[in-house]
Amino acid sequence: MKTEVAIIGGGPSGLLLSQLLNKAGVATVVLERATREHVLSRIRAGVLEAGTVAMLREAGVGDRMAREGIPHHGCYLTDDDLMVRINFEELTGTSVMVYGQTEVTTDLYAAQDAMGATIIHDVEDVVIQDADSSAPYVEYTVSGKRKRLDCAYVAGCDGFHGISRKTIPEDKRREFERVYPFGWLGVLSRTRPAHEELIYANSANGFALASMRNENLSRYYVQVPLTDKVEEWSDARFWTTLKSCLPTEVAASMETGPSIEKSIAPLRSFVSEPLRWGRLFLVGDAAHIVPPTGAKGLNLAVSDVHYLYQALIDAVKTGDTKGIDAYSERALLRIWKAMRFSWQMTTMLHRFDGEDSFAAQMRKATLYHLSQSETARRDLAENYIGLPF
Ligand code: FAD
Ligand code: PHB
Repeated sequence: MKTEVAIIGGGPSGLLLSQLLNKAGVATVVLERATREHVLSRIRAGVLEAGTVAMLREAGVGDRMAREGIPHHGCYLTDDDLMVRINFEELTGTSVMVYGQTEVTTDLYAAQDAMGATIIHDVEDVVIQDADSSAPYVEYTVSGKRKRLDCAYVAGCDGFHGISRKTIPEDKRREFERVYPFGWLGVLSRTRPAHEELIYANSANGFALASMRNENLSRYYVQVPLTDKVEEWSDARFWTTLKSCLPTEVAASMETGPSIEKSIAPLRSFVSEPLRWGRLFLVGDAAHIVPPTGAKGLNLAVSDVHYLYQALIDAVKTGDTKGIDAYSERALLRIWKAMRFSWQMTTMLHRFDGEDSFAAQMRKATLYHLSQSETARRDLAENYIGLPF
């Protein structure tokens, strides 16, 4: 088989890139390891920046999001019973959209199908060959048969555990990493959200987040030690812990119910530089991971696509390589700013095991300062709603 851009990974970044390239008449083939059902059942991001919303509209997948997504004009950061509202609208003139990653990928798959795009699922043993030459190709196995896909460019959109990043020789890349000593235990439940806006809660019992998907579907997280297993967390234990982290008033009035999904995600900051090796480009989680505290992961994947897609169109259609030559540097400038914000939100809101009494006071003082200073709130709001592309 032959195509212009081979895309490894059919998560949000691979699908969005494929959609934008196909719309511009650039041929793609997406190779995805999992089944479509599996990709669509992974409960992950929930908050879309305004720039992400605009990109999805540009890709032709904005209609259902406009109907079903919920614009959020602010969120709360709390410390025990102190609730600090960050008013995005007033501080930045814009807002974010609550619309789940599963909905975004559902819409992208539907749009790709309507366009007749080629997405191959259940592929195994993907190997990118000759990425540093002018004629790269990708080998993979599907239904027990080894196949070859010739292409002009390869987009590595295969997430943190994918093979694209590792295709780049070790002496050609540099990795930066911080692993946090805790994870997030997430629960999805068919209950009314605890509050109409998201609550990022700092407390003596650790961090919790009250989020949502719609007026009848809530998403909650609590901080857990890395060694904890999902099986150790009954629903009852989860609700008790969550309530102990949220402001008393919110906890007292919140609805609880059976969980319909429960999973633990470790927290990590990670960047691999550069994002390009020859004709291979890394996009999204394949190149970088942020802890979810800043709601930046999916949004960063989309901003990478923003920087890459027009550059690939120019390279394929006119041979102009200025865009692809600049991709890595342009995308990394924004990635590092989101890294800093996500790291800062994480340290500001989580309890670190073995920390001294000073650390908790610093978190309290940061929250108190936010409650008093519009400048501090504006800085947080600007980063949260998304820095410009
Ligand atoms: P992925 O979604 O990881 O997709 C990669 C795809 O590649 C997968 O489908 C995988 O099956 C496939 N693949 C892997 N290896 C191979 C291979 N060898 N061959 C072929 N295919 C392969 N982000 C936000 O912006 N806001 C949030 O509120 C937010 N909350 C989050 C909450 C949690 C609990 C978690 C875990 C993440 C959250 N994120 C959030 C992060 C966000 O989900 C990710 O950043 C996003 O999924 C990245 O998209 P991606 O397409 O780059 O990678
Ligand atoms: C979510 O709803 O899953 C969510 C929201 C905000 C975050 C992280 C996750 O910062």
